[in-house]
Amino acid sequence: MSAPEPDPSVAELIAARPHLTMHALDGLLLEQVPLIAIAEALGTPVWVYGAGTMRVRLRTLTDALAGLDAHVHYAVKANDHLAVLGVLGRAGAGADVVSAGELRRARAAGIAAQDIVFSGVGKRTEEIRLALAESIGQFNVESPAELAMIAAIAADMGRTAPVVLRVNPDVDAGTHAKITTGKAENKFGVPYGDALGLYAHAAGLPGIAPVGLALHIGSQILSLAPYRAAFARAADLVRGLRSQGLSVQRMDCGGGLGIGYRDQPGASPAAFAGALRGAFGGLGLRLAVEPGRWLVGPAGVLLASVILVKGGERFVVLDAAMNDLVRPAMYDAWHGIVPLSPVDAVRPPAPVDVVGPVCETSDTFARGRALPPLAAGARVAILDAGAYGAVMSSTYNARPLAPIALVDGANWAVIRARQRCEDLWAGESVPTFLD
Ligand code: LLP
Repeated sequence: MSAPEPDPSVAELIAARPHLTMHALDGLLLEQVPLIAIAEALGTPVWVYGAGTMRVRLRTLTDALAGLDAHVHYAVKANDHLAVLGVLGRAGAGADVVSAGELRRARAAGIAAQDIVFSGVGKRTEEIRLALAESIGQFNVESPAELAMIAAIAADMGRTAPVVLRVNPDVDAGTHAKITTGKAENKFGVPYGDALGLYAHAAGLPGIAPVGLALHIGSQILSLAPYRAAFARAADLVRGLRSQGLSVQRMDCGGGLGIGYRDQPGASPAAFAGALRGAFGGLGLRLAVEPGRWLVGPAGVLLASVILVKGGERFVVLDAAMNDLVRPAMYDAWHGIVPLSPVDAVRPPAPVDVVGPVCETSDTFARGRALPPLAAGARVAILDAGAYGAVMSSTYNARPLAPIALVDGANWAVIRARQRCEDLWAGESVPTFLD
């Protein structure tokens, strides 16, 4: 076995992220805003997102896709804040939603219904009704049972649902097992071998217009090989369907493009676009992609303060915890940690465990991480927390949800207030028979 790559240093983490800089006096900046100012104004823990960073990333992706008739449907699950949807929607992105709640968020943020695709293995009757009433652009159907449900509801409403069949290509995306979706044993999609028959069946159903195929093989994918394999299988299926006289106009290629949390190299948008071109170029398809993490992940940080240090110098206890950012606990995810103070940032590093105050051993942000000494009160940014961060927070240990600030260039504003403790039990009641 080769030795694991050493962790990137604080300076390397900052240098690899163009939206972050360490200012000699003001400390860590996100775009042009000193994060210390936000931490002081709002307290910690607090999320901060960079609107300009999200726009640049969307533009980088759409530029790479130029000439492909490819459309970006931002995966709302990665970060569903109305302001984030507003930034990406105004910059031209549609949305990929997986619930009525996400559909309503996307609409509330001004994203046109026609630019919304509806994914997910278990859409409920009322969610399908809402989507049909709104005339969304596409249903990504994952099973015969779901196809029958949509057909019945659409026929009842006198509507026709534009449907793509999500195929499970049985390809290993080479990512964490908990975020792999394209293997035969995963719950997602229609088995590859069943797709042709089901598509032909769909073409004969009232209320259904089969318009193409979809796939999504997993998340945090850093290598192109699984994409190429899945796209090749999908392109074969397109040709197979067409040879049966079936019309196939669209190919939804899913999301999953990974980011370099540890500064590891990944698949660039240009290389990803090359894989799309290689598989689908010349087939005359309208392509869709559903990126979430790649667009918003690097654009967000979680700011935290050190409560105390214990175990000698070993455990640095933050005021942020697994209830705020669950990714390290849930997926053993690695997130960069950088001091906000320019003085702290340059002190010689030593290995520490960075933990939260929640009563679980998995409430650990980093183990044996080389960091400059951080005393009580020191503030840090946990990096690349814009995707699957705040959306996955809970109030475990009765910890109110952290506030969120949005930076845009030199401007910033609060976009979600800190939850009040009383809000935690606002909907609860104690029945009188307990008296
Ligand atoms: N499309 C579909 C159908 C999906 O299920 C997903 C993500 C995406 C698009 C967007 O994938 P992305 O581009 O963001 O990788 N909570 C996990 C990730 C779960 C991803 C679920 N599906 C994490 O924190 O790593």
